[in-house]
Amino acid sequence: MPKATVVHIAEIAPGIRQIRLQPEVAISTDFPPGGHLDLSLPNGLVRSYSLVPCQTPQQFEIAVLRESASRGGSEYLHTQLGLGDQLTISAPKTTFRPIQAPTAVFFAAGIGVTPLISLADQAWAQGLSVVFHYSVRAQSQAAYFDDLASKPWGGTILVHDASRGQRLDLAQALSSVSPEAAIYACGPARYLTALEQLLDARGSREQLFVERFRQEDLQTGGAGLVVDCVQSGVTVEVGEDETILAALERSGIDVPYACEEGICGTCVTAVLEGQVDHRDTFLTPEERSSHRLIAVCCSRALSNRLVLDL
Ligand code: FES
Repeated sequence: MPKATVVHIAEIAPGIRQIRLQPEVAISTDFPPGGHLDLSLPNGLVRSYSLVPCQTPQQFEIAVLRESASRGGSEYLHTQLGLGDQLTISAPKTTFRPIQAPTAVFFAAGIGVTPLISLADQAWAQGLSVVFHYSVRAQSQAAYFDDLASKPWGGTILVHDASRGQRLDLAQALSSVSPEAAIYACGPARYLTALEQLLDARGSREQLFVERFRQEDLQTGGAGLVVDCVQSGVTVEVGEDETILAALERSGIDVPYACEEGICGTCVTAVLEGQVDHRDTFLTPEERSSHRLIAVCCSRALSNRLVLDL
């Protein structure tokens, strides 16, 4: 895994740190639209952060919100990370599908703006019609506000400034979005859930592509099960309060992972037999109904046995 040096840290909005990383060796810092990077932190955590187009060549840029309920990632990056520190990074990856629609409508809330910037860049470069909703507590304290305003698509931004009583009316905003448009959204869970419910109600959920930072109500427990790993020939018993990932690790079977919340897709593993009780938000409806893939960090089984390609 490549290493990168922290070469820039700045507070770009209250509680938001902009961090730039220079890879140790010359690797491409291009990244797919909506892409993210996994950072392996010295405290043992692996966390994913969306990439923002960086004005300095050969550097990666992320922006990290200090979360009040931090599980250790944002807290570390805000209180312990310093210039010159080295972090292990993954190659850039994305969970967003390419934009294939005549119009791209973006719904960003707070720090959720970060993955949508490069997607909007791409949509504009493809000649698509763009609409960019940006919900902020206060425009004067919004991350990247000036950068966005100077983009070629800056004129499409509709700012919803809560401090001025201009909260976004999602239902009204969606009423003018055609069913052919692709909708990309990122923000707090409640905001994304509201969007999903509105699109469910009009029967067009498939036009929505979301990125979640965390699953607030994620339940990973359930009935115990047995997991057979065909490649290694190991059978693993998974306890009621244990994730499949934890049980695999306990048995010496390494599976790459990052978010541990079913969001990033890093731990997705092929299923050879069994029915999956999906708890992730990464897999598509088609992938879920096929029962051929599982996010082992959080999902369980509807059957009492799974056979995995591990
Ligand atoms: S580690 Fe992110 S989906 Fe499992």
